[in-house]
Amino acid sequence: MAFPPAFLDELTARNPIEDVVGQYVNLKRSGSNLFGLCPFHGEKTASFSVAPDKGIYYCFGCHKGGNVINFEMEIEGLSYPDAVRALAKRAGLEVPEDEQYQSRYRQQERLWALHKEAARFYHSQLYAPIGANALQYAAGRGMPKSILTKFGIGYAPDSWTALVDWLRKKGYTDQELRDSGLVTVSRKNGNLFDRFRDRLMFPIIDVRGNVIGFGGRIMNNQDKSAAKYLNSPETLIFNKRKNLFALNLAKKSKLGYLILVEGYMDAIALHQFGFDCAVASLGTALTEDGANLLSRYTEQVVLIYDGDEAGQNATKRAIPILEKAGLQVKVLQMRDAKDPDEYLKKFGADRFKLLLEESSNRVEYQLNAIRKKYDLRDDDQKVKYLQESADLLSKIGSSVRREVYGNRVAETAGINADAMELEIRRARERKIKHEDRKWEREAVQPVRSIQPKERSLRYDNVKSAMAEEMVLSQILTEPALLAEIPELKPEMFSAEALGKAFSQLSERYRQGLEVSLSGLTDFTPEEMSHLAGISQRLQGPVNHQGLADCARTIREEYQKSQTKTMDDIMLYREKMQKSKGTKP
Ligand code: GTP
Ligand code: MN
Repeated sequence: MAFPPAFLDELTARNPIEDVVGQYVNLKRSGSNLFGLCPFHGEKTASFSVAPDKGIYYCFGCHKGGNVINFEMEIEGLSYPDAVRALAKRAGLEVPEDEQYQSRYRQQERLWALHKEAARFYHSQLYAPIGANALQYAAGRGMPKSILTKFGIGYAPDSWTALVDWLRKKGYTDQELRDSGLVTVSRKNGNLFDRFRDRLMFPIIDVRGNVIGFGGRIMNNQDKSAAKYLNSPETLIFNKRKNLFALNLAKKSKLGYLILVEGYMDAIALHQFGFDCAVASLGTALTEDGANLLSRYTEQVVLIYDGDEAGQNATKRAIPILEKAGLQVKVLQMRDAKDPDEYLKKFGADRFKLLLEESSNRVEYQLNAIRKKYDLRDDDQKVKYLQESADLLSKIGSSVRREVYGNRVAETAGINADAMELEIRRARERKIKHEDRKWEREAVQPVRSIQPKERSLRYDNVKSAMAEEMVLSQILTEPALLAEIPELKPEMFSAEALGKAFSQLSERYRQGLEVSLSGLTDFTPEEMSHLAGISQRLQGPVNHQGLADCARTIREEYQKSQTKTMDDIMLYREKMQKSKGTKP
């Protein structure tokens, strides 16, 4: 997916990062950097930095970072090419549409069309004689025709090739069928078969209105070995983590909040009963991507997971993910029914509404959870209850809210409100001191770098990687330093992403192009964040001797690793020859 480098440079030059970020974040200058509140996680103090001279942004809080294209991707939820196009449009540049990209886009368009065709097919089967059972099942679960139509619910017939035949007739190639994920390939003879058979089908539609996949529910539980739900696999157009079921409808809701549930059926029932703001995650736990997607359409999310233990655990995990995306979270505790679908059908919309109004905010929810752990008739336990509550409340930024909840806890435990306030204040002071120390550690010793958070970026050779980070941060500050370390080669780098960055930066230097992170291509968002972090964390004056030392460390570590491999090879040969009974 390559745009010409010259075009990308022009694009970056015409979209100064501080201007683009400035459209979303209120930035204040401090030295050579600008700071503001991070748009990617909720925070009260500005840890989001923009370095206009380097063309990058980096958040010291959530460690997201990159160049202007990465920012556009992240904040608008766009793919790389779409972000490039958006920035080009902003700057009035024409995009040289690259052939590879065009072909990929055409491929996507074909898959969207194929999925629309498949959805139509499944829906029609629901009303065909072959779908009689499915229609009856849907009716039995209380779904009126209007809902079947609204969600495009369908039926995949109990046949091996009904969909395959239909799509072939519509002109789709076998390759396209395979790419769609809607068929499986026989291992024996390579024939194509329908993936979904004898299932009630729920089309998954993205926010732009494209059908991108399906969830299929088994109807009669006679086959114990079959999964209750079968979902489309990941394809060129379907990413479970980045999409939410029914968001295409919920985004138009006037209710002002979104409801997040676990199951397709729950989301559908909520819509049916007038809560048109419901969405469901796609058979996976809520991800950061999912939370960010939600945050584009609302500020408040009501979390309704099943009442069982799994649901409670999922709730606990989802809360911080949603809050990190800057969302206000309320939690509705399911009771008297296992999930919203069952509840609505048992008790109706009015009673559900009461439950919804009762839904507590996150702090209340957590205080409740703490409360449940202790027996307040026991003094020791009461003290623990108060301490743990104070600890939780000390994290709240607003003093008014701290006081309101503090009073409530004091009342529950039957103690004086002032005593509680003092307890919260102490917990808060401890916490602030702790944060300060953490900040100091990071700020005072910026060179002492750490293993990247992202697992795929973990360093194998930390010693070399630290030197590699230093080299990169130095040449990003002063590209001319590259001339001082001619003997350092990208393949000597132990960390793949760092070596790749070094290679691209050296190449740009050689060609007389600007040496900055904004010129890099083909890095994942995680890699870009990591590189931006290196550049922003390791700010410091140019240090010629330090640079030479780092280059030497990298070379030495590289040589060590090479000799080690040679030793291994020799050893292996020796062993082989011994086992064959010949002397080396
Ligand atoms: P009903 O039983 O029809 O009411 O479904 P539900 O929506 O209440 O489903 P449930 O609470 O059992 O599961 C919640 C969600 O998890 C479903 O909507 C699916 O997305 C997913 N899920 C459930 N069972 C399976 C399974 O066997 N395989 C996969 N891949 N996902 C599943
Ligand atoms: Mn259910």
